[in-house]
Amino acid sequence: MKQPVRVTVTGAAGQICYSLLYRIASGEMLGTDQPVILQLLEITPALGVLEAVKMELNDCAFPLLQDVICTDDPKVAFTGSDYGLMVGAKPRGPGMERADLLKDNGKIFSTLGKVINEVANPDMKIVVVGNPANTNAYILMKNAPNLNPQNITALMRLDHNRAIYQLAEKADKSMNTVTKMTIWGNHSTTQVPDIAHTMIGEDTAPSLVDATWANEEFIPKVAKRGAEVIAARGSSSAASAANGVIDHMKSWVLGTKDGDWVSMAVYSDGSYGIEEGLIYSYPVTCKDGEWTIVTGLENSDFITEKMKASEAELQEEAKTCSDLF
Ligand code: NAD
Ligand code: LMR
Repeated sequence: MKQPVRVTVTGAAGQICYSLLYRIASGEMLGTDQPVILQLLEITPALGVLEAVKMELNDCAFPLLQDVICTDDPKVAFTGSDYGLMVGAKPRGPGMERADLLKDNGKIFSTLGKVINEVANPDMKIVVVGNPANTNAYILMKNAPNLNPQNITALMRLDHNRAIYQLAEKADKSMNTVTKMTIWGNHSTTQVPDIAHTMIGEDTAPSLVDATWANEEFIPKVAKRGAEVIAARGSSSAASAANGVIDHMKSWVLGTKDGDWVSMAVYSDGSYGIEEGLIYSYPVTCKDGEWTIVTGLENSDFITEKMKASEAELQEEAKTCSDLF
């Protein structure tokens, strides 16, 4: 039996976590041979609900679940932790953009970044989910200089999965035939879902769907899917977001499939002309717990222009919260 790993999850009494925690405990994220200890963080008024989440976790009798720690003290939540799933933050409501959350949510990530810097294992792998996810990850990174910045990522896998679904539906093929989907940029409406390098089985995606659909329908559909769910559900995506977190961490820790890649917002090394240090979504492959940006892709002027616009939005978001780092 492997040694248990510690997984910290913030916002653990919220909507996303009600789908997420049970899947971590069942082994879907880190493997069915990996015991886990869950370290769950909430704000004090939510500790009662969190206790119920713990009761239900225990009542599942998951063989891999070694312990569940519930706390409102970030130091307790992050001490000794191997993985950090940063979900706790306000969601947006109808009519809002994700960047409207920056004022309130940015503070959470500067506070937690400082605590992580002080108490966490410097090799801890982090995914930021709370919106605006890329800039919250950037704030966390700036407040946690002891951590390897390559271990601070933001969630784009939900967008990636949304794009696979839209493309498969349009091409009338099954989703498991779609590989090499790419989302560039920010988890916002400026994100760039890009099928130029995507394959559907043995065919290139651009040979199966027309460019006008890809540019004028597919891109906005994927980029605005979060708002579409909010309008229909009255609150933001939860089960699909949790699924994205599971997929993101599983790919990162256990590796991507040969001949495929995934989209992750990671520390930019300047690839594709994007400012170094921004948390920007790239196509990446993962092996042995490390991600690598896919290099050498040729981008059209149309895609490059959109990628630059998403970069500019991230630069602007970073400027507006520079008081937080
Ligand atoms: P929710 O309101 O149901 O849950 C959030 C939880 O976080 C609440 O229980 C709240 O008490 C807790 N919380 C608030 N401040 C905290 C803090 N400082 N420390 C610990 N916990 C804290 O919201 P949700 O639907 O679970 O969404 C959470 C976040 O995820 C939102 O910001 C939402 O916009 C974002 N989101 C991101 C993606 C993505 O793809 N990146 C997808 C869906 C949702
Ligand atoms: C999503 O993409 O569903 C989330 O980021 C929630 C939102 O605000 O759109």
